[in-house]
Amino acid sequence: MAFYYKLGEIPHKRHTQFRQPDGSLYAEQLVGTLGFSGVSSLLYHINPPTQISRIGEAKPFAPKKAEGVKLAPQHLKTVEVNATGSDYLNARKTMLFNSDVAVSICNPSEQEMDYYYKNGQADEVVFVHDGTGDLLTQMGRIPFGPGDYLVIPRTIIHKFRFDKSEKQVRLLVIESFSPIETPRRYRNYFGQLLEHSPFCERDMRPPVELITETTKGEHLVQVKKEGELHQFYYNFSPFDAVGWDGYFYPYAFNIADFEPITGRIHQPPPVHQTFEAHNFVICSFVPRLFDYHPLSIPAPYNHSNVDSDEVLYYVEGNFMSRKGVERGSFTIHPGGIPHGPHPGTVEASIGKKETEEYAVMVDTFKPLYLTEDALPYLDENYPMSWNEHGDGNVRKGDMFD
Ligand SMILES: [Fe+2]
Repeated sequence: MAFYYKLGEIPHKRHTQFRQPDGSLYAEQLVGTLGFSGVSSLLYHINPPTQISRIGEAKPFAPKKAEGVKLAPQHLKTVEVNATGSDYLNARKTMLFNSDVAVSICNPSEQEMDYYYKNGQADEVVFVHDGTGDLLTQMGRIPFGPGDYLVIPRTIIHKFRFDKSEKQVRLLVIESFSPIETPRRYRNYFGQLLEHSPFCERDMRPPVELITETTKGEHLVQVKKEGELHQFYYNFSPFDAVGWDGYFYPYAFNIADFEPITGRIHQPPPVHQTFEAHNFVICSFVPRLFDYHPLSIPAPYNHSNVDSDEVLYYVEGNFMSRKGVERGSFTIHPGGIPHGPHPGTVEASIGKKETEEYAVMVDTFKPLYLTEDALPYLDENYPMSWNEHGDGNVRKGDMFD
């Protein structure tokens, strides 16, 4: 994050003596990026963060590429999927991935993790589709609810606690192998978001209170790195910070706080951009007024985004007489072949004033691979659905990009 924040107790000067009630020094830890040239935070721990008690056997934790998938527009239907696993990690099912990003669904049945987790080499953006609760981190607690993007930078130790509910928790997890940032064009020289940005720092929600656990005994931190979950044990809680300050921390941003940019004629997907990383972007489609030129066509035009694979995840809204694409659907439009509105929907869009729909888009510059876990959700009819003799329904995606 590009604004300074602090929680808890910190000494007046960095790298100076800061003592615990028993007279011993707190253990200072710099968590920094880009080799001391990027953003960083300074944490003060009760215990040295280096004090590993033992390391268990690593577990494989990598997506498996599906073989033999033809180049085609694809549709994954996940709306009827209930729990995909018991806890946060075994419920994570990757649908798409490449060397820059992995996109997963995650519908855990358990309310709270009995271990801690960190991603050792990727930032994670967890989009909360259904569920409320708390993201508990070594830098504090972030309450969350539907529509929240939870941005968790790499190496931040955390766990999820979901509130008890009849409704299945549904999460979309976007794992980024480069830092997740706000779009550069919306920031000034100092990093502040500019007036034409569709959101500002006031919309970002850093941790609200520090969690300082003094519990002893074995505590497991599972560390994801290089396709494995590494098992690190400590004889104290990793949530043992008494204070921190800096620019590197997790935060929440709700999709409903994204202010849409509209125009007289159809606006391209970059107006919906919310985050950027190396070789991909994340965009938010939110309720908005349609184009207001007297001859405008709200539906998008056919396009060949030759350098991008475009993925849309459908979140909420009135799905416009749409059969097929629904809540929890993914559509995947690969670079190299054009895509656009379904037959009849361009005319049908004329005169429409607004949309109430929400969707999250991930556009990548490198091709994405479908995984073996994604295959059960494939809609085999989708690639031919632009045919005049197709199912003839207005597809929700017609109004998006
Ligand atoms: Fe598109």
